Formats: sequence, C-alpha cells, structure tokens
Amino acid sequence: MAADTSQVPVPARQAPVPECMIDVRHLRKRFGSKVVLEDVSFTVQRGTVCVVMGGSGSGKSTVLRHLIGAYRPDNGEIYLDGEEITQLDARALQQVRRKFGMLFQGGALLNSLTVGENVALPIRHHTELPEETIEIMVKLKLELVGLRDAEHLKPSEISGGMQKRVSLARAIALDPKIVFYDEPSAGLDPIVTGVIDKLMIDLTDKMGITSLVVTHDMQSAFRIADKMIMLHRGRIVAWHARRDAGVARSASATVHHGRSGRSHPAAYVAKRVPRGYFGVVVSSPCGRGLG
Ligand SMILES: Nc1ncnc2c1ncn2[C@@H]1O[C@H](COP(=O)(O)OP(=O)(O)OP(=O)(O)O)[C@@H](O)[C@H]1O
Ligand SMILES: [Mg+2]
Repeated sequence: MAADTSQVPVPARQAPVPECMIDVRHLRKRFGSKVVLEDVSFTVQRGTVCVVMGGSGSGKSTVLRHLIGAYRPDNGEIYLDGEEITQLDARALQQVRRKFGMLFQGGALLNSLTVGENVALPIRHHTELPEETIEIMVKLKLELVGLRDAEHLKPSEISGGMQKRVSLARAIALDPKIVFYDEPSAGLDPIVTGVIDKLMIDLTDKMGITSLVVTHDMQSAFRIADKMIMLHRGRIVAWHARRDAGVARSASATVHHGRSGRSHPAAYVAKRVPRGYFGVVVSSPCGRGLG
C-alpha cells in the first residue's frame, strides 16, 4: 500500500542564511620587519557593500591586494565565494579572477584603445567568445553605466567621471560576483562622486554584486555602505553595519572604546554614525566572527 504522505510534517521555513562572499580570517602580512596587517578578520555577505576606511598607510590597499591574489599573506585565509585563494597557483587564481572585477584607483584605462575596446579587454582575455557577442556585451555594460554613446571615443576625449564609469563597465564586463574598488571617488567632485556611488548601489541591488570599496571619502562611505570597517595600523579597530541591510544586527547603538580610553581614530567615525547605523569599536586584536 502506498504510504500516506499527506500528513508528513513540512519543516518550518528557515530564515535564509545570508551567503558569505568574502571571508577573511586572521590575515597577517609583514614587509621586512614592518607588520602591515595584524590579524585582520571580516566577512562580507552576498549583495552587500562593505567599505574599508582608514588613514594613509593603515593597510587598506594591502587588504585589497590580498583579496585579488596579488599578495600572499604570511598567515591567514581568504575565501571568495567559498573558495580559499591564498594557496592557489597562478592558473587556479586566474580562474577565480573571472569571478571578480576590479576598479583600479586611477581608472587604468588604456589610452590607445577606444572606450568600447577597453571594456572588451577582460572579455577577450578570459573568454573566446565571438566578436559579435563581445560587441553586444560591451554595449550592454556601457548602457548600464549610462555611456552608450561613448563607445568609439578615446579615454582622453571624455571627462574623469566618465572615465570612472568606463572603468566600472570594464570591471563588470564578465558579470562578476564581486567587485573590488580602490578609491573610486579619488579626484572626482562631489556631484560625480554621487553618480558613481549610485551606480555602485544599483549594481549591488539590481545585479546582486558584492562590493568591497576602499575609500577615505566619509560622505560616500555612509551613502553606500552596508558595513564599514575601519583599519588603523593594520588592525580593524571599528566596524559599523547598516541596520536594514542583510548584515543587520539586533543590537542598538553601542560604541566601546579601546582599553586605553585615549582618543582613537575610530571615535571619529563613531561620533558620526548616522541614524540607521550601529557601531562597535573593538580593541585590537579583533577576533574571528567580526561581522
Ligand atoms: N610591497 C610593499 N613593500 C613594502 N611595504 C609595503 C608594500 N605595500 C605596502 N607597504 C606598506 O604597508 C603599509 C600600508 O600600505 P597600504 O598601501 O596598504 O596603505 P593604505 O591604507 O592603502 O594607504 P593610502 O590611503 O595612502 O593609500 C604602508 O606603510 C606601506 O608602505
Ligand atoms: Mg591605498
């Protein structure tokens, strides 16, 4: 006789666990005798924007270079979309790099190529797609950043803000899961910065891209961040998360100061935590599980 399945209890729906796209664990790096990163740990959930802030020389770009596999840590692990990357050989790393895009500080466009050719570069590098397909992909990405008509211009013929948008189109050319940005608003006026910020938010919300943004622009950071991490001398000294983001915590605003109680760079951020954010300032070293 067939079993009566009508009474089989249906398990209660569980709240979706936010997926961890970036998981950095106990990252440590020294150059010569200088310790540049000291036990840096943090996570970034899928489809959110994490901003890394900190003073000059605090280690922001060094974190980013580890994440793109340009540096190997002395200690620690980095998982991108579940894959540990610090031990990968060059070939395997190349495969992982297909999953992420990078917007370099200066934009790094090639002036000898047109805007369209610049956007096509990563597609040509990583795939063997036919020319017609590449052309369609390029047009689509340029459309996404509002630069459909600039395809045949040279980078020198467009403004700095437009160049940044082209760099962004190039960074997302292969539909990456993660985009890394190094100082995306450097050298831009506040209005153009606002345009780039909106684009970053749109890409996150509409395409589900996970973004890690290194910036020193506080206004921009508060506009785009779901989570902020503050680095100071290679350690995370503070982090903040937007309450309504996927990474929301139920705690209300709490700010702890380091044991010394002395003036701390993190206090600067803490004083400016806007509504909708809560902040935690950790006395270093921060442990795993931070965010
Ligand atoms: N390849 C390297 N060799 C030696 N020292 C390095 C190297 N890369 C970074 N450093 C040192 O590590 C420290 C952190 O550098 P990093 O570029 O990460 O700082 P940053 O926070 O990005 O600063 P900025 O805001 O000025 O860009 C600096 O003291 C820098 O001199
Ligand atoms: Mg830097």
